[in-house]
Amino acid sequence: MAYETGASELPPVTDWVHDWDWLDDQWGPNAIDIWNDVRQQCPVATTERYGRAFMPVTMEGVSQVAHDTENYSSIFVSVARPDAPRRPAPPITSDPPDHHAHRRLLLPSFSPKVIATMEDDLRHFCRGLIDDLEDAGSADAAEQYSQHIPVHGICRLLGVPESDADMFRDWIFRNFQIGPRDNAVKLQVQTEMEAYHEMMLDRRMAEPKDDLLTLIAHAEIDGKPVDMDLKKGYVGLMILAGIDTTWSAIGSGLWHFAQHADDRAALVAVGNDDMLWQTATEEVLRYYAPVTMGRKVLADTEVAGCPVHAGDQMLLTFPAANHDPEAFENPHEFQIGREKNRHVAFGLGIHRCIGSNLARLELTIALQEWLRAFPDYELDTTRETTWANGQIRGPRNIPVLLNR
Ligand code: HEM
Repeated sequence: MAYETGASELPPVTDWVHDWDWLDDQWGPNAIDIWNDVRQQCPVATTERYGRAFMPVTMEGVSQVAHDTENYSSIFVSVARPDAPRRPAPPITSDPPDHHAHRRLLLPSFSPKVIATMEDDLRHFCRGLIDDLEDAGSADAAEQYSQHIPVHGICRLLGVPESDADMFRDWIFRNFQIGPRDNAVKLQVQTEMEAYHEMMLDRRMAEPKDDLLTLIAHAEIDGKPVDMDLKKGYVGLMILAGIDTTWSAIGSGLWHFAQHADDRAALVAVGNDDMLWQTATEEVLRYYAPVTMGRKVLADTEVAGCPVHAGDQMLLTFPAANHDPEAFENPHEFQIGREKNRHVAFGLGIHRCIGSNLARLELTIALQEWLRAFPDYELDTTRETTWANGQIRGPRNIPVLLNR
């Protein structure tokens, strides 16, 4: 089945079961329908567009791959050309036994206690973005709001300057949306990022501060200093994993509520501490989960009955698993009060997201502040909502009427 499409370098996909492509222009706006259609035909789709790669779309298949670190490696976390340049960005690109030490190093900086201290500053930041809209009648809720909030959060935590935000977003765009098909672009982005990370790490080596960059600059594992290449990888991961993931989740929530007056009214009517806010943000994460991850197949095996071979690539569609009727009641319905919601937006197994506390806080605050300021806003259907394809899927332009 073909979906609404725009321009693309490769022919548009017409058979998502045998020829899927996460950079096809249909993916961004239609991925949920695509996964649901594929699931009705078979549990695992294939493609040859990046060498041979598979895409399980059921909770069972996704969970099986995510938990099996013997047969699937995280050295390929993006489905890209098989000869794509790849750099370490631990813990996400590391397998056992190395993975644990990298993760343990970074985890304390994302504990609930540490992240909770960021609440007031994040609220203040969101209110500032809303104030900047002054008395405008319309806005782009992605460009003028959602894209800025996670950059602020990660810059605060990591200690990189917020004035470099445009550069981070440019890296993210080229790395995720062009890089998987174009090795030269991928290499260029890696080179630019590494030079920046090295410069920032050198500064903290010379002049320590109270931030994550300083912790990384002086990182040791088992009493030995961590290699510079790996330290650059940690910093790169913070920037690539910490920004457009949450930006996409906030944007998807804003896009959804812009079209659902009942949900908006229900949320505006309750206090920030009401359980409804918790179930609503978890439902945004389930329904619009932005992140899919790659794996490399290490040994011939099978997933959901489908044989796969050493050297193949695998796309872990956590968002598709969140729409599997075997795992959720009426998964196609967005229910702000959904009580049973064991979604896997943050992954499964040893690589489960380190930043989930920060992501949840940013998402909740961003939605609360926006809905309080603009309880009657709605989608401006005369202008186009645009979506990012690929690894991190979410709206990049959300035209809205503020109706204040
Ligand atoms: C809504 C926002 C977010 C979503 C949906 C999300 C999703 C994910 C997913 C699915 C994984 C598993 C990767 C895998 O299995 O290969 C992951 C891992 C990770 N995420 Fe997030 N993430 C979000 C926000 C963040 C933020 C704000 C940070 C902060 C820097 C972050 C840092 C990480 C790191 C470091 C890992 C690797 C953990 C490991 O390999 O042990 N994420 N994330």
